Amino acid sequence: MKGKKVKVGIVGVGGIANGKHMPSLAKLDNVEMVAFCDVIKERAEKGAEEYGAPGAKVFTDYRDLIALEDLDVVHVLTPNDDHSPITVAALEAGKHVMCEKPMAINSKEAMAMVEAAERTGKKLTIGYQNRFRADSQYLKNLCDAGELGEVYFAKALAVRRRGVPTWGIFLNEKRQGGGPLIDIGTHALDLTLWLTSNYKPVSVMGVTYRKLADRENAANPWGPWDPKEFTTEDSAFGFVQFDNGMTVILESSWALNTLQVGEAMTVLCGTKAGADMLDGLRINGERFSKLYTTKPAMRGQGVAFYDADDEDPGLEEAKAWIDSIINDTEPLVKPREAYVVTQILEAIYDSAKTGKPVYFNENKGCDKCC
Ligand SMILES: NC(=O)c1ccc[n+]([C@@H]2O[C@H](COP(=O)([O-])OP(=O)(O)OC[C@H]3O[C@@H](n4cnc5c(N)ncnc54)[C@H](O)[C@@H]3O)[C@@H](O)[C@H]2O)c1
Repeated sequence: MKGKKVKVGIVGVGGIANGKHMPSLAKLDNVEMVAFCDVIKERAEKGAEEYGAPGAKVFTDYRDLIALEDLDVVHVLTPNDDHSPITVAALEAGKHVMCEKPMAINSKEAMAMVEAAERTGKKLTIGYQNRFRADSQYLKNLCDAGELGEVYFAKALAVRRRGVPTWGIFLNEKRQGGGPLIDIGTHALDLTLWLTSNYKPVSVMGVTYRKLADRENAANPWGPWDPKEFTTEDSAFGFVQFDNGMTVILESSWALNTLQVGEAMTVLCGTKAGADMLDGLRINGERFSKLYTTKPAMRGQGVAFYDADDEDPGLEEAKAWIDSIINDTEPLVKPREAYVVTQILEAIYDSAKTGKPVYFNENKGCDKCC
């Protein structure tokens, strides 16, 4: 692919397409967006107008888009229940696929995606852009260098005091596969597992709540929700244990009466030091019989007004993804890693339903990459 522009098709031209994928891809010289598909035709047309290469095609059926011969990559940016079928079809049609998070609505559909990528030899990645943040990258370096020692306790945090997404079909249990847990808990869990390189869960306990969802005229940054449409949980919590002894507590909520909020964040506690993202990235430890806390400077290290460090994880994600295609390397977010995240989220939902723990006897999910 070197020296050639990568031809990308967009499926689902809604919020995340306009907010992350299309503006990021538009900044890359080695990419052209040649096809746009949305079940609402005007959205696909608008995408093509604003971001399309000359002659960009517009479709309302993704099957027409993935059938294009002169197309290298498909970005799947639809609601969650369409992630797996569209991704599998695009891989089978010989395209590389970037699919938005969460990978799929359950582990069966996620595994179908993993298997399709492995069968076809095409690349598949998931839109966990938080891995590309400067603080996440720095913390990953610290973890990989062993600076925290053995991390044996972690928290994956995705808690909003109020932040119920009222557009699209986010509140629809059937189409999304769940609420805040699958929507934002997925980012925090992905970050925590990736930082600690830990993909072998052995047991999961979970609880879900639906306590604030029935409110009429609720305070919410995106406007009050309709209780009749709100069919998912409003909070979910998990307790996950791993085969190396690590425990992760996952907290996720779209609406919780708390001032302790934070999203796409992790807290790591290791034998040598700890780290958290609760007030920027902070490292805490003990030296010379004293406790210390440091905050690495994430910005302002360049020349005033010419800083190249204005953080845009969406752009970094797009760059790395397209580079992995051009150079034929593995994307940072690997399918089997996202599969394990999906398995754990599903187990939290299952445990919440039965009131019992879920045990993974043998985790085959990530054998090939971890
Ligand atoms: N990475 C992130 O932080 C992040 C943030 C927001 C959303 N997302 C994910 O992105 C996905 C889309 O979310 P959104 O906020 O853009 O939703 P949205 O409702 O704004 O956009 C989805 C679009 O897909 C279209 N669509 C639905 N079914 C389709 C199909 N079968 N074929 C073609 N188009 C179809 C809809 O008409 C709509 O325009 C979700 O999976 C969501 O979880 C990720």
